[in-house]
Amino acid sequence: MDRRYFLCYSTITATLLLSGCEEHTPQEEQPKQKVASSEKKDIKRTETKPFTQELKIPEEISFSKTKKAKFSSQKSLVQIYTDKPTEVLTFRGMLPNPTIRIKRGENFDLEFTNRLPQPTIIHWHGLIVPSVMDGHPKDVIPANKTKHYHYKVDQSAGTFWYHTHPHARTGKEIYHGLSGFYIIEDDEEKRLNLPSGEFDLPLSIQDRRFDENRKLFYKDKEVPQDNNGVLGDVILVNATPFPYKNVKNRKYRLRILNSSSVRTYNLAFDGIEEFALIATDAGLLEAPLMVKNVIVSVAERIDIVIDFKDKRIGDTVTLKNLGFKEVSNLKLHPKYPDFDAKMDIMQFHISEKAEDTSSLPAKLVHIPRMKASEAVRTRTITMEMIAGGLWTLNRKPYDMYRIDERVKLGTTEIWELKNSVHMGHPFHMHGVRFQVLDRSGKIDFPTDKGWKDTVLVMPFETVRIIVKFTMPGLFLYHCHILEHEDQAMMANFFVER
Ligand code: C2O
Ligand code: CU
Ligand code: CU
Repeated sequence: MDRRYFLCYSTITATLLLSGCEEHTPQEEQPKQKVASSEKKDIKRTETKPFTQELKIPEEISFSKTKKAKFSSQKSLVQIYTDKPTEVLTFRGMLPNPTIRIKRGENFDLEFTNRLPQPTIIHWHGLIVPSVMDGHPKDVIPANKTKHYHYKVDQSAGTFWYHTHPHARTGKEIYHGLSGFYIIEDDEEKRLNLPSGEFDLPLSIQDRRFDENRKLFYKDKEVPQDNNGVLGDVILVNATPFPYKNVKNRKYRLRILNSSSVRTYNLAFDGIEEFALIATDAGLLEAPLMVKNVIVSVAERIDIVIDFKDKRIGDTVTLKNLGFKEVSNLKLHPKYPDFDAKMDIMQFHISEKAEDTSSLPAKLVHIPRMKASEAVRTRTITMEMIAGGLWTLNRKPYDMYRIDERVKLGTTEIWELKNSVHMGHPFHMHGVRFQVLDRSGKIDFPTDKGWKDTVLVMPFETVRIIVKFTMPGLFLYHCHILEHEDQAMMANFFVER
């Protein structure tokens, strides 16, 4: 398809679609022009001196100590840069938002008040909880109303996250701050003696745009490519631009979350050749896998163990993005680093000696392999752009109240995810965890070996996943590129008893 034609069309349709949506603010999201005019004005970027700000570590809310927590979505001024505050959205008045830590078997209990002018809702990404607690966009709560979340956590240890999920505004809300970590622990993991406490670091990676006044800005109204995904040039880790972290010369567990809008990262280190991949989205792998780099698309998580033991005091190790051009042939905003861009993310400064009493066992947990023969049926989900340039699943723009697939509680199915476009899509399902059976493409993803809730389907690729439905009710499946899910690339499945 001619690119210019497509871009122009997609703007028109996105405009029509979005203007049909009530809570939408027209000036903010509708591009005024139909054709990209990126050459017109120069973007005034903020200046950042990399590795000068120390990594912020989120405060923790531990449900072993607290019985009940309170969140309220609100506008806040926070010091992302040290010289000027930035207006953002938070759950408790600061960024990063707190990390929720909970043990399998414990009760989660949280009162959420919406202090934003528009309706919103929190979703617990990767958690398998009753559908009324899941945070479906149809369950948004109005301004100044409160929702009480309570459920028992009953799934294996892993790195999860939470974020708001109002239809057509998820991208903008996460962009401005509304996400955080959600860590589940269990005894099985505890016995492994992996690095813990100060040696267990959550890293939430987001590329962002700031203007010269340190103000965050989202879509560029003059560039319709932004409707296909918003790329930024400043990388925040836990809301800190290109941070550094002082570390000891020993093993660390890094829990890495890609909470960006569209960017897929190909992560590697300068100064450390190999590291151990120990967990994927929904839990630990069977065994650590030594890798040199890992691809992490939007909403995916990886846990790795990195060992600084051979480093000397004063050495530095840089976490970087190698770039991953294969993920998209579609070019996005021409003024921001594209998918192939190499970018430094953060630096570790080896600053102290320490004894290491943690371990990295050769065997982690047992993952029962689900077999294709266990599946009662195969469903095909296509990822397509329909006439007018709208991103969809199975050619149907999202409707909050339509049930797209009905499945039976307790059964196992194969979902065949077919991408027929020139851009990769991270496919996510609520209310389940799944395994990857196979993929038609050439790239071997080490993350396919573990429990997943989000899987990257490469351009023109077909990925088969196998999933067992264990929670009844209505759940979502969607592309996790935030601008795609906000457009129309989302659907509902209903798990019936
Ligand atoms: Cu991060 Cu609908 O999910
Ligand atoms: Cu989710
Ligand atoms: Cu997509």
